[in-house]
Amino acid sequence: MEITLKAPLDMHLHLRDGDMLRLTAPLSAAHFAGAVVMPNLVPPVKGIASLGAYAERVRTAIEEVDGNCAFAHYMTLFFRPYSEEELAAARETEVFFGIKLYPAGVTTNSAGGLVDWSAAEPTLKCMEELGIPLLVHGESHGFVMDREAEFLPIYRRLAEHYPKLSICMEHITTAGALRLLEEHENLCATITLHHLLLTLDDVVGGSMRPHLFCKPIAKREEDREALLEAALSGNPRVMFGSDSAPHPREAKECCGCAAGVFTAPIALPCLAALFAKHDALGRLQAFVSDNACRRYGLTPPQKEITLRDEPMHVPASYRGYGQTVVPLYAGEEIPWRVVKDR
Ligand code: DOR
Ligand code: ZN
Repeated sequence: MEITLKAPLDMHLHLRDGDMLRLTAPLSAAHFAGAVVMPNLVPPVKGIASLGAYAERVRTAIEEVDGNCAFAHYMTLFFRPYSEEELAAARETEVFFGIKLYPAGVTTNSAGGLVDWSAAEPTLKCMEELGIPLLVHGESHGFVMDREAEFLPIYRRLAEHYPKLSICMEHITTAGALRLLEEHENLCATITLHHLLLTLDDVVGGSMRPHLFCKPIAKREEDREALLEAALSGNPRVMFGSDSAPHPREAKECCGCAAGVFTAPIALPCLAALFAKHDALGRLQAFVSDNACRRYGLTPPQKEITLRDEPMHVPASYRGYGQTVVPLYAGEEIPWRVVKDR
């Protein structure tokens, strides 16, 4: 069996900076036509000049490995109160895609995130008027399994208060988030590969598996099933966003393990295997590209990726530039692989 995907997109990706960027950006660019690049660097990307400079570093990192690689990097700013002038200027910036909002302290490098929602109002209003998408890490500071559920009323309030603002509920992990999605047209959602595959049992139910630890934490089986159903059904407001989040091996295999699952180089083969297993291969194109293109009016570079149901051996780690990152399914065999790209 084979499938050729047109312009697959990763609508939520962490590429980091420096040597880690040099290692990971080409891996995404090899399989995807474009990606929405997260701004949670240290320090975060909080201005148009730093966004432009980061975009340039992403481009250079990819070019260093493949000079002919077509890859659209859709860049994001880290949410803070922005003036109307700043937002208008951002919108004119070709590589700019939207603004990512992190409540302060909910995840990796989010200490400078939002504390006071009332201070966010003028910026949100202006984003609504200018048509700038808002991407949200929707977790509270409550009990780890309830954080997304506790954030849903905030999503609801945002959706009602700013009816023309395009709001993306990032990396949703619960059936409740999917129910909310159906209530408001201005909400959409990204779903990761790992949340389609894993539950909390995989992370800590046996021996603890640090490479599966991420935020939001994987939830219950009924949540995983609801996410899978939404992805497989071709729900037009659900898009693939890997949230592939590389951390150096030593930051994962230690006391105080960093949150993040590194999936970029195996995401498409794993998705093809999953959709094929559920007899839904025909709807993979919608999940990995068409829904996002329609929602945001994107025209990514032409790129076709063919996948076949032949086994791929996943490397024990990806190495380069002094960095080592361990992917999901490290050292294992997965049933599909990429056979050609152009
Ligand atoms: O697991 C995660 N890792 N979740 C996030 O929200 C951030 C990400 C990262 O940047 O490592
Ligand atoms: Zn993320």
